[in-house]
Amino acid sequence: MASNVGVDNLTAEVRESFSGTPDKRLQYMLDSLTTHLHAFVREVSPSIDEWEKAIDFLTRTGKTCTDLRQEFILLSDVLGVSMLVETINGVETPEATDSTVLGPFHMVESPARDLGEDISPESEGPRCVVSGRVVSVDGSPVPGAKIDIWQADTHGFYDVQQPGVQSIGNGRALLTADQQGRFNFRSVVPMYYPIPTDGPVGELLAATKRHPYRPAHIHFLVSALGFRELTTHIFIGGSDYIDSDAVFAVKNSLVKNFAETDDAATAAQYGVQNPFRHGRFDIVLHPEF
Ligand SMILES: [Fe+2]
Repeated sequence: MASNVGVDNLTAEVRESFSGTPDKRLQYMLDSLTTHLHAFVREVSPSIDEWEKAIDFLTRTGKTCTDLRQEFILLSDVLGVSMLVETINGVETPEATDSTVLGPFHMVESPARDLGEDISPESEGPRCVVSGRVVSVDGSPVPGAKIDIWQADTHGFYDVQQPGVQSIGNGRALLTADQQGRFNFRSVVPMYYPIPTDGPVGELLAATKRHPYRPAHIHFLVSALGFRELTTHIFIGGSDYIDSDAVFAVKNSLVKNFAETDDAATAAQYGVQNPFRHGRFDIVLHPEF
């Protein structure tokens, strides 16, 4: 027999329906989701038409995802949820390098490259060198740390956005830090770019008069045995949109000055034409709890 609950009892009944969930963390999350989602619906009181539009939006968001495109991460990003999750998790490790969002473009495996290699061999434009060390919170080096790097080119495009123009792996690298935790690589200075606007997330930004741009940045995912994995970026100091990132991911500690460096000996050491731009980034990992 169908229950005949009034809307006043509905929330309690749905919460109760999850009470037998064996996984207590899952039960807690579903209980909280029900409570907050129902409160949201009561507050905004959507029409049937609006509810159908919301379902259609989420359906199209899912259908826009492919092996090379992640519209749901993008939706999480523009709603600030990705940054909130990163920040909540980073609170436990304040001594470590700040984390920021993964973003939607970590879609393919980065090619293993040697230290010092050019990670954007197909890209034209002004070259930069990025160098630094991976250390623990006590300053000791983390030898052999794995550093996964991905970035847009000088026109603001990732490899996966330009089939036939860039090969998969251009603008990406998996580096291994040396015995002193040191690393360096050559690349092009990335450009600020718009997040993809030809899907449902783009519709959301257009409907709300928000711009889609992200300031120029390079992504890092750093891991080492015995340490917490770090997901972060460095932002190119002075880039447009540094104060209005479409995905709310800028932290001041991650803004690096890619200084113009006019030093022939150092340029030769890194294998770039003089002058070049040099970004320095020391990465502090927190030991696993
Ligand atoms: Fe990015």
